[in-house]
Amino acid sequence: MCGIIGFSGYERATDVLLSGLSALEYRGYDSAGISCFTKDAKITTIKSVGKVSELKALVPGELKSDCGIGHTRWATHGGVSRTNAHPHSCGNVTLIHNGIIENYLALRDTLAAGGRTPVSDTDSEIAAMLIDSLYTGDAAAALAAAVAHLEGAYAFCVLFSDQPGKIYCIRKGSPLVACQTEMGSIIASDMVALLRYSKDYFVLEENLIACLTRDEITLTTLDGTPVTPDYLTVTWDVSSAQKNGFKHYMEKEIHEQPDALSRTIMPRLVRYSENGTFYMLPDFTADGIPDSVFLGLSRIIITACGTAMHAGMMGKLLFEELLRIPVTVDIASEFRYQNPILDENTLVITVSQSGETADTLAALRLARKKGARTLSIVNVKGSSIARESGHVFYTHAGPEIAVASTKAYTAQLAAFYLIVFRAAYAAGQLSIAECAKYTEQLAAIIPSIQQVLEQKDEFTKISRHLTKANDLFFIGRGMDYALSCEGSIKLKEISYIHSEAYAAGELKHGTLSLITSEVPVIALATQHDVLPKMVSNIKEVRARGAFVILVAAADAMIEEELYDFRINLPQISDRFAPFAAAVVLQMIAYNTSYLRGLDVDQPRHLAKSVTVE
Ligand code: F6R
Repeated sequence: MCGIIGFSGYERATDVLLSGLSALEYRGYDSAGISCFTKDAKITTIKSVGKVSELKALVPGELKSDCGIGHTRWATHGGVSRTNAHPHSCGNVTLIHNGIIENYLALRDTLAAGGRTPVSDTDSEIAAMLIDSLYTGDAAAALAAAVAHLEGAYAFCVLFSDQPGKIYCIRKGSPLVACQTEMGSIIASDMVALLRYSKDYFVLEENLIACLTRDEITLTTLDGTPVTPDYLTVTWDVSSAQKNGFKHYMEKEIHEQPDALSRTIMPRLVRYSENGTFYMLPDFTADGIPDSVFLGLSRIIITACGTAMHAGMMGKLLFEELLRIPVTVDIASEFRYQNPILDENTLVITVSQSGETADTLAALRLARKKGARTLSIVNVKGSSIARESGHVFYTHAGPEIAVASTKAYTAQLAAFYLIVFRAAYAAGQLSIAECAKYTEQLAAIIPSIQQVLEQKDEFTKISRHLTKANDLFFIGRGMDYALSCEGSIKLKEISYIHSEAYAAGELKHGTLSLITSEVPVIALATQHDVLPKMVSNIKEVRARGAFVILVAAADAMIEEELYDFRINLPQISDRFAPFAAAVVLQMIAYNTSYLRGLDVDQPRHLAKSVTVE
């Protein structure tokens, strides 16, 4: 939700800002802008509607600056226009903002009484007006005073016109990470903007004020006490955030899944011995997750948003089957307002690629406040959810740039499998031999994903057919239903084709009336225990004329007249089929979007990291 970057240093600030905005563009891409101190110590602002490439075309080569801020916007308050694009200025203050100021209307009225009138429709401009109204030459004091009036979430980078070369920053809720390099100081919403300059960075803690100059970043509390940052190191390199020969980030990230899964699974496999036999089991000692987290539980609640929540649906099925503890899956934006019943015997698992999703973070905070145990499955190291959770399981999928989540999803699935196997072993529900057998089967899915990717031409044929559809259904039972939900969101978000995921047995209770020859059905039949039931459900849609695309276990006996296309999965036991089937659905969504000529990586209206409610 909006990407922000600030730079003070020895290089051309415009180059650093514009390349940083390109890296951050997945966070928002409806308009962009920069403000820089020029050599005469004045601030120049350039903004444009559209993508960062359009802003780049407006920035003159002769614009010399060594300090500035840049923003790429995902509109919340106010439509997409040049006026609403950031940076916003008022008096001495020029700022960029990521987040939402909830009380901006009340503030606007108060500030209007003091003679300040906004020109944009944004909450961010009101923040600029507020800070300017409190500024008497001491930037840190103005920020400290301003945040006392602000409700909501914010990450601000602020230039004060009488302090050239300096950027002041503060955040609450929305993320900011920073690094100091030989070429200067940089701050941004996300590590991907810093990667080309440094692998070492620190997360700006909430309610600390950072002041960036070309030689240092100083941190102080709101009352002026100096603070030393804790640096983290990422293992990613610049190439992990580039396309590396693929047409789109999404395509690249789909193909990265064998590596990503290997990084999630393999380092957690540890050799155990019992009665002279050796076993490889999941072990989270290095993650700092003791078995006691899984013992004495009365229930588990999994809460997340979107794709991460769909991974949680799979987690529920696994937990209930192997750990035999009741599990509920809640959408985080609902959970946080439901006054849930939680205690120390409840484990709340939050799942988030970014670790910054506002609703998931709020759900985690609620769980902690109510005394539940908390464990988070997170991809981004040092993110808010990772830092605030009782325990963290990092997926190590590497940076995910495409808005549609792919490798992060399968890595979240892998995390659930490992966690469930370990928990069931620790709780005595699985013997060491069973746990080792399942763990071995999990590791074996890695090469099977490569086999799925080899069926590239089949996916293109299917997608060619889907490009003409207006509506589509995904149907499945059990794990296949959980996966249908994921397949449906993936297709919707990037191809703009309306689709719904349905539990296959539920269609006939109303929705079957929507099935016609114009409505393709993607039927998942990877689970042998419900195969006869699933075949009946496929017959039901077929009898209504549906064009059926079947994704099935290779040995599933299904009459040929029941489908138009069939994708067979590699030989894997049913429990692990979701990995291979997920890749099939990702490829179908990807190709459909591409063949429809759409912006695969940056679909309309969306942004990667949803840091607002
Ligand atoms: C869909 C997608 C979203 C995210 C959701 C949660 O492809 O990416 O549905 O899964 O916004 O994001 P995280 O995992 O960052 O909390």
